[in-house]
Amino acid sequence: MALAVLPLIPLLLAELVGSSRPEEACGVDAAAMSMLQLEKAQVQRQQECGHLLIDKCDPEANALCANNCRFHTHRDDCYRPIPDVLAEHPGVDGYCYFNYTAFWVAYAGPVPHYELEAVEGILGLRGPFYRGLHTGPVLTYNFEGVENLTTQMDSPHYSYDDLYAYSLGFLQGQGLDPEWMKNSSLWISLSKQKCDEIQATYNFSKEELVLADWLDRNMVISAMTMCSAGMDGSLFSAEIKAEAGYRNATDCQPVTHREFAKHHYVKCMLGYRNSAADMAYLNARACLLEGNHIGHFSDCPYSPPVDF
Ligand SMILES: *[C@@H]1O[C@H](CO)[C@@H](O)[C@H](O)[C@H]1NC(C)=O
Ligand SMILES: *[C@@H]1O[C@H](CO)[C@@H](O)[C@H](O)[C@H]1NC(C)=O
Ligand SMILES: *[C@@H]1O[C@H](CO)[C@@H](O)[C@H](O)[C@H]1NC(C)=O
Ligand SMILES: *[C@@H]1O[C@H](CO)[C@@H](O)[C@H](O)[C@H]1NC(C)=O
Ligand SMILES: *[C@@H]1O[C@H](CO)[C@@H](O)[C@H](O)[C@H]1NC(C)=O
Repeated sequence: MALAVLPLIPLLLAELVGSSRPEEACGVDAAAMSMLQLEKAQVQRQQECGHLLIDKCDPEANALCANNCRFHTHRDDCYRPIPDVLAEHPGVDGYCYFNYTAFWVAYAGPVPHYELEAVEGILGLRGPFYRGLHTGPVLTYNFEGVENLTTQMDSPHYSYDDLYAYSLGFLQGQGLDPEWMKNSSLWISLSKQKCDEIQATYNFSKEELVLADWLDRNMVISAMTMCSAGMDGSLFSAEIKAEAGYRNATDCQPVTHREFAKHHYVKCMLGYRNSAADMAYLNARACLLEGNHIGHFSDCPYSPPVDF
């Protein structure tokens, strides 16, 4: 899924599911973290971003807080091609314009801090099921162009994000050095390069780049990814299973490079500042090791400043 989670989002989510708030950013440099929060607070005063008209997530979305378009200030634009919408708002960040149309679309301000944003993404997605490094089941993916790609699913979202990162080539060991994210302008230009490569390969039409469709597709990709990992996806709704071509764990459609490329490319269209944040999150948390195994944290050359 790969997101930047603002402090308020866990609050809204917690309200919805009645669970406790995700862990605070323990292990992160506290001073740097509060700097980041201060900057964000200033941004919220200075810039009018899109927001929800009522203080709750749309219960009719196909997953928790996954599509709030109906309740959003820019509701109508959710259903139009993103390039057309943003062409009418030059200079406006897409994550600001569509802020909080889903919990993972959260504007993090004009000044990026990619290492910290990666940590926020890691902690925000980790969820209550995380028990630590090397505690989850080993998954073997059935994926285009690679044999015996494995990972250890320490948190449920790993099945998606590990394969997504591998597909995009964003894991450590696939050519992207995490040191580079310290230089934001460099990192953004690398992100733009990747976005251009994706479009040169897939030539997505603007009709394929509609925000509401992208939001709804996320759960479908999740079901396809579980198929790729040989996991049971029977708990998905009938609608998602139909979209994903999922009948059972042996009769289902695996996810494709194209599917992942499109998911990322929409972030490119919403601003390279945001696709770069996705790239930072995916690069900081995992790496490709010998024998096509995906490792995390201390398995990897670089481990982000976060407890694991
Ligand atoms: C984004 O939307 C949420 C939910 O409506 C709102 O609380 C928050 O202030 C918005 N963020 C910005 C930067 O405007
Ligand atoms: C993949 O794993 C299987 C079972 O462990 C093994 O028989 C096969 O040779 C492996 N293939 C490659 C390309 O490593
Ligand atoms: C950051 O990267 C840019 C290239 O995108 C380069 O021109 C600049 O010198 C770098 N800054 C630092 C501090 O290394
Ligand atoms: C890309 O797609 C557009 C339609 O969206 C088409 O007009 C164009 O010819 C395509 N370009 C390439 C290089 O395939
Ligand atoms: C999966 O569905 C197919 C029919 O689509 C059926 O033949 C097969 O037995 C099912 N497998 C399991 C494990 O239920």
